[in-house]
Amino acid sequence: MGPTGDGGGDGAGLVVIIVLAAAAVVSLLVAFGYYCYIRNKVSKHLNKLKRNNEALEKARSAVEEEEEVGPTVVTERGVQVFGFKQLHSATGGFAKANVVGNGSFGSVYRGVLPEGRKVAVKLMDRAGKQGDEEFKMEVELLTRLRCPHLLGLVGYCSDNGHRLLVYEYMANGGLQEHLYPDGGSCGGVSKLDWETRMRIALEAAKGLEYLHEHVNPPVIHRDFKSSNILLDRNFHAKVSDFGLAKLGSDKAGGHVSTRVLGTQGYVAPEYALTGHLTTKSDVYSYGVVLLELLAGRVPVDMKRPSGEGVLVSWALPRLTDRDKVLQIMDPSLEGQYSMKDVVQVAAIAAMCVQPEADYRPLMADVVQSLIPLVKSKSTSKTGSASSFHAAKSPSTSECGKTGL
Ligand SMILES: Nc1ncnc2c1ncn2[C@@H]1O[C@H](COP(=O)(O)OP(=O)(O)OP(=O)(O)O)[C@@H](O)[C@H]1O
Ligand SMILES: [Mg+2]
Repeated sequence: MGPTGDGGGDGAGLVVIIVLAAAAVVSLLVAFGYYCYIRNKVSKHLNKLKRNNEALEKARSAVEEEEEVGPTVVTERGVQVFGFKQLHSATGGFAKANVVGNGSFGSVYRGVLPEGRKVAVKLMDRAGKQGDEEFKMEVELLTRLRCPHLLGLVGYCSDNGHRLLVYEYMANGGLQEHLYPDGGSCGGVSKLDWETRMRIALEAAKGLEYLHEHVNPPVIHRDFKSSNILLDRNFHAKVSDFGLAKLGSDKAGGHVSTRVLGTQGYVAPEYALTGHLTTKSDVYSYGVVLLELLAGRVPVDMKRPSGEGVLVSWALPRLTDRDKVLQIMDPSLEGQYSMKDVVQVAAIAAMCVQPEADYRPLMADVVQSLIPLVKSKSTSKTGSASSFHAAKSPSTSECGKTGL
C-alpha cells in the first residue's frame, strides 16, 4: 500500500483548488474593475444630470423673478411698461370683485402696484386692427400730453396679444354714475350739488381747451361724454379715453375727413352728416355734457314724453328764454343756484350746441366764461384740497404747450 497513488490524487486536487481560487480571484478582480467602471460612469452621468437640473432651476427662477417683480421698464416720459403677470397680480387675477366698470373697449379693474399705488387697469378686448389702433392712439397721446385735467397714464402692457392700459385711479368713477344714480331712468336723485357741477364743467372745459389750443397740431377728442369725465376722491374732474382721438388740421378753419365715430346724442350734426371733423365737434359734445349737468337728463331717452326725448332739441329753445330756462333744471338741485348763474351757464350751453359749427365758441372762451361762476366757491368742501386755482388763467398756469 504505497503512499504514491494517494499523493498524486492530493496534488491534482490541490492544482484544481489553486486554479479555481485563481479563477475566483480573477473574476473578483474583473467584477471589481467593472464595478468601478460602472460607478464612475454612473457618477459622471449623475453629475451631469445634477448640473443640468441646477441650470434649469436657475433659468426657471430667473423667469419667475422677471415675471413676478420686474423688470418694469420706464420710458423717457415716465410711462411704465408692465408685464402681463404684474398686472394680473396687481388686480388679484382680474377678480370680478375688482371690476369698476365696463366700456365698449373692455372691463376696467381696480389694482394696486407693488409700491402701494392704486391704479385702474383697462383690459382691452377689442380684437383686430381697430383695437390695435385705439390702443396705440391712447398710449401715444397720453404719453405726450400732460395736463392736470386729463387722466394720467401710469403705463401699459402689450404682451403676448394682451393689451392693457394702466391709469391713475379715480375714486369716484365716471360723472354719469353720479348724475344718474339709477342708470338714467327718470326719478333718480343725484347728490351732485350745483357748486360741484360747475367746477366739473370748468375742469372738463380746461381739459378740452388744452387739447384744442395748447397742443400742436390740435387733438380732437371725438368721444367727449359724461362717462369719459372721471372724478377723483374730491370730485375733481379729468377727461379720459383718447382711443378715438384724431389729430386736427393745423390750417385755420380746416377740417379732417374721417369715419363718423362717437356716441349717440353727443355727435355734432355736421360731423354726423359729412364726416368733417374739427375741434368744434368736441365743443358740441361739451355743450351736451353741460346740458346734462344742468338738467340731470341723458342725451337721448325715448321713454320721455314726446318732444323731450332728445335733450338738445328739447332744451335749446328754453336755454335763452329767461321765463322758461328754469324748466330744464334738474329737480335734484332744488334751487341751489342763483338765476344769474343759471342764465349764464344756459347761454354758454346754447352757444356750444349751435347746429352751425362756426357759431360755437372756442373752448378757451367757455373756460373764461365759467371761471367767474366757480371762482368765489373754489374753497368749497370738495375743492379745498386741490391744486385748482380758478383765478389764474388755465392756459398758462396749469397746462403748458405741447407739440406732437
Ligand atoms: N381711471 C379710472 N379710475 C376709476 N374708474 C374708472 C377709470 N377709468 C374708467 N373707470 C370706470 O370704468 C367705467 C368704464 O370706463 P370705459 O372708459 O371703459 O367705458 P365708458 O367710458 O363707460 O364707455 P366707452 O367705452 O364707450 O367710452 C367708467 O364709467 C368708470 O366708472
Ligand atoms: Mg370711458
